[in-house]
Amino acid sequence: MTIISPSLLACDFLNMEFELMAFEGVKDLWFHLDIMDGHFVPNLTFGHPVIELITKKSPHKCDAHFMVTNPEFYGETLKNAGIHNFTFHVEAALDSMSLIKNLKINYPSVGISIKPKTSVSKLSDEILKAVDLVLVMSVEPGFGGQSFMPAAYDKIKELAKKRKSLGAHFQIQVDGGVTDKNAKELIAAGADNLVAGSYVFKTTKDNYKNKVESLRSF
Ligand code: DX5
Ligand code: ZN
Repeated sequence: MTIISPSLLACDFLNMEFELMAFEGVKDLWFHLDIMDGHFVPNLTFGHPVIELITKKSPHKCDAHFMVTNPEFYGETLKNAGIHNFTFHVEAALDSMSLIKNLKINYPSVGISIKPKTSVSKLSDEILKAVDLVLVMSVEPGFGGQSFMPAAYDKIKELAKKRKSLGAHFQIQVDGGVTDKNAKELIAAGADNLVAGSYVFKTTKDNYKNKVESLRSF
């Protein structure tokens, strides 16, 4: 089944524990944690202590998306923080392949992300064979609540084709402006994991689970 990853950036930060518990019992769900450093992207979110509090309480796997200039540092310092998937940006890494190898030692899943202006060809076959996830950004990273950029469809299709020809196993994740208006087409293009912030959280708490299912049950 398609994995849905609610982005906690859009949740009620003062009631984070209740927000997490609202998704209890949902199958194939990851919590998406957006880590921004005010440098790789203009915004700043949260870091180590908050990440650890979330992973401790979370009834689901935690997927951390690092929009930071020094992913090598975060990979090392957060290795015991309970993160399931560690995604970094290819635009930020000094040497993506050696970072992937290091992260693989400490994290069950390792992802690499490309910004809207970065082409799929920036990801070598070696990288694509080594990662567990490729994150296609469908908005400029840094802010929630932006409009989806349709150029993501072709990137997803290209990645799905490459995955097949390489015999690789990575998940294809898409992040930014995902709603019930584009989810079906994204899945048809080859996406396995949809990140959604505003769409899931901008409703009443009793409706979160319905919002999640509306992205994958057609
Ligand atoms: C953007 C973040 C996204 C964001 C998605 O920089 O990486 O994860 O929270 O939010 P929506 O779904 O509102 O576009
Ligand atoms: Zn994200």
